[in-house]
Amino acid sequence: MRILSLGLKNLTAMTETITSIYKRRSVRKYKPATIATTYIEEIIAAGKMAPSAINAQPWKFYVMNDQTLITKMSEEIAAAAEQHAYLSHGVHLSQPADRIFFGSPLVIFISAPKTNEWSRLDVGMCAQNMMLAATSLGLDSCPIGFGKFVERTKSYSIMNVPSSEEIIIAIVFGYGDHAPQMESRLMNNVFYVK
Ligand SMILES: Cc1cc2nc3c(=O)[nH]c(=O)nc-3n(C[C@H](O)[C@H](O)[C@H](O)COP(=O)(O)O)c2cc1C
Repeated sequence: MRILSLGLKNLTAMTETITSIYKRRSVRKYKPATIATTYIEEIIAAGKMAPSAINAQPWKFYVMNDQTLITKMSEEIAAAAEQHAYLSHGVHLSQPADRIFFGSPLVIFISAPKTNEWSRLDVGMCAQNMMLAATSLGLDSCPIGFGKFVERTKSYSIMNVPSSEEIIIAIVFGYGDHAPQMESRLMNNVFYVK
């Protein structure tokens, strides 16, 4: 694990939170092992503890942990997203395997009201809480912007998301089957204003 800059001498001096922040990676290959319901509940509870503008808590969580359904949704989303490949955050749409959810046993879609101007920011904070909670529980994760394309699939109706709501993001969770290197971070984007 590489430390960018902490002013802390070594890893042992890091808090558990900071350790989780550095440990979290976007993992794109998962073992088939399922995730205990208590872990799912912990992850969602951590999401709900995120701050939100005027404490609106605009998020709703749609939990999918049926592997057959996840695979089917992944195929439908890949087909819907193919016209929008410019959104590919490291996604290889040409790969034949599960190209959207990477074989993960758990996908959580997060929706919010279309009319809430802060909801994307709120949901972003909620999503990061969930991924850090997962890290601290020994799980891996990956935010899936492509999850939004679930709205364009045939099977979207089974989720019963009200038409006043939109899917902001999906997150996959599971026990990773590879350990990706940290992606580089930009170092020239901090400005002290005097
Ligand atoms: C809003 C958002 C959407 C993302 N969408 C996808 C996605 O659809 N597929 C994917 O494989 N990764 C996706 N990612 C993961 C990013 O590619 C990843 O966070 C970035 O490369 C940095 O790597 P790291 O998360 O390991 O630090 C997304 C990340 C964010 C924040």
